[in-house]
Amino acid sequence: MADKDGLKAEKNYHIDTPFANGGGFYIKGANSLEWGMKKHLANIFDPKSGNTVMFAFDHGYFMGSVSGLERLDLVLPTLMDNIDCLMGTRGAIRTCVPPECRKAIALRATSGSSMLDDDLSHEVIAVDVEDCIRMNADCMAIQTFVGADGQLSSLDNLSRAVNAGLRYGIPTLGVVAVGKQMERTDRFFKLATRMLAELGANIIKTYYCDKFEEVVAACPVPIVVAGGKKLSEPDALKLAYDSIQGGARGVDMGRNIFQSEHPVHMSAAIRKIVHEKFTDKEAYQFFQDSIAR
Ligand code: 5RP
Repeated sequence: MADKDGLKAEKNYHIDTPFANGGGFYIKGANSLEWGMKKHLANIFDPKSGNTVMFAFDHGYFMGSVSGLERLDLVLPTLMDNIDCLMGTRGAIRTCVPPECRKAIALRATSGSSMLDDDLSHEVIAVDVEDCIRMNADCMAIQTFVGADGQLSSLDNLSRAVNAGLRYGIPTLGVVAVGKQMERTDRFFKLATRMLAELGANIIKTYYCDKFEEVVAACPVPIVVAGGKKLSEPDALKLAYDSIQGGARGVDMGRNIFQSEHPVHMSAAIRKIVHEKFTDKEAYQFFQDSIAR
């Protein structure tokens, strides 16, 4: 194992040079995967834009009922036209998503913490691969806690999911958690995203940061940016715009959609940025015009 001493700061990210090993398939790092894995990824990432709008409503797995998601059965149908992928728990999806729904499924497959814990970094694999197959999941979402007390077990969860996913043809979404003791810096996100990709995750979900384009360049699989805490609509749209401009292949927004005064219009505005090259200002104008109509 290489020692940590004398590590030189990386600097050659070749930001403007496209990923070299595409091999004709549009999703980064998936060229050598077999057909079924590619099909699941293509269900998530639009072949035209290469991007995705994930709607995250998996907060309940450790937060219970959160503001804006009190009635999933009422919220979800209103957003379907504007999202590409549902990120939820098997309980929420089985009870509140009609099976005729044609959206991709990012299935939250880990659990073990709750809002009552100080340390949220100890999770287990909660959904076995058989149930991911039953749920027709397009990826298994595994929470990881690089740098936290639960690092080892969370990376073990990720590797087990990758192993099972490769056996049965289901991609793994590695989720980078940021706890209190973790810094939201490019240095941390370069470490965490690259680790998860090297461990075999096919998609990484992380947060936007300074030098985000370097985080993207150093990660050999697509990155999707989590929305995080509720922002103003202009700020949330700027986050989406900056993420896409920085090379993210989509956003995975929850609170910035379901805690907006106008979730449907907000998700539509986010879609404009992710798939139609709107700027944040254009998207906000679209948002305001939609409300006024
Ligand atoms: C919640 C999650 C969510 O999927 C992720 O954080 C995106 O939701 P939000 O935009 O509200 O942060 O992992 O535990």
